[in-house]
Amino acid sequence: MRKIVIAIDGYSACGKSSTAKNVAKELNYRYIDSGAMYRAVTLYFLDHLVAITNSKEVEKAIREIQLSFRVNAKGVSELFMNGINVEKDIRKMRISENVSPVSALKEVREAMVAIQRKLGKDKGIVMDGRDIGSVVFPDAELKVFLTADILVRAFRRQKELLQRDDLVDIDTIVGNLASRDQIDSTRKESPLVKSADAFLIDTTHITIDEQVDEVIRLALSKMVGNRARSN
Ligand code: DC
Repeated sequence: MRKIVIAIDGYSACGKSSTAKNVAKELNYRYIDSGAMYRAVTLYFLDHLVAITNSKEVEKAIREIQLSFRVNAKGVSELFMNGINVEKDIRKMRISENVSPVSALKEVREAMVAIQRKLGKDKGIVMDGRDIGSVVFPDAELKVFLTADILVRAFRRQKELLQRDDLVDIDTIVGNLASRDQIDSTRKESPLVKSADAFLIDTTHITIDEQVDEVIRLALSKMVGNRARSN
């Protein structure tokens, strides 16, 4: 079967990463968490006190950031920034609270999209984010857009944070998700939008396994469709 590009976009905490990770595992594809890249840039900006209103400072900082994904012994893809594993640090609330304005910057988006396109040039990739189907891979063979009720998303995120010993109250999480939804969907650069050709999946009442099964079913139909066309 021919390899395809699978773009999974949607709101924060809809299960995009878990779905994408599992789909990649089942298909033996590479998984790339594009949100992790924006989170890493945010970590760098916070630690180096980069003023996001100063485009010279932003451009200089971007040049100093080297990002790479490495697969660990458990087969899980992890993000390294300038040689350091940043997976833990980038999931903290302080990053979630600052990532949307950073990811709205044109300079940041251009640099990240260039890296993402390189990673997907050989296909066989599942990438999740906000603009993967609309901007990064507009020709992706399969585009999926995930959505879910905000309270359900907030409880899922709270559970995830708790597993990392980070206790955050539900109102704070709902507030953070709502404000990120708002900034991500209304920003000038590559706003979060469902492409017309993306399949919409509402994950409010379904489990991660059901989400994964649905995406794999769609992926297989695209792969077979591709093979049929190439014959
Ligand atoms: O998927 P996530 O919640 O880890 O993403 C963190 C932030 O990064 C999100 O609020 C918006 C931004 N993002 C983006 O602008 N474009 C992407 N392709 C992925 C994430």
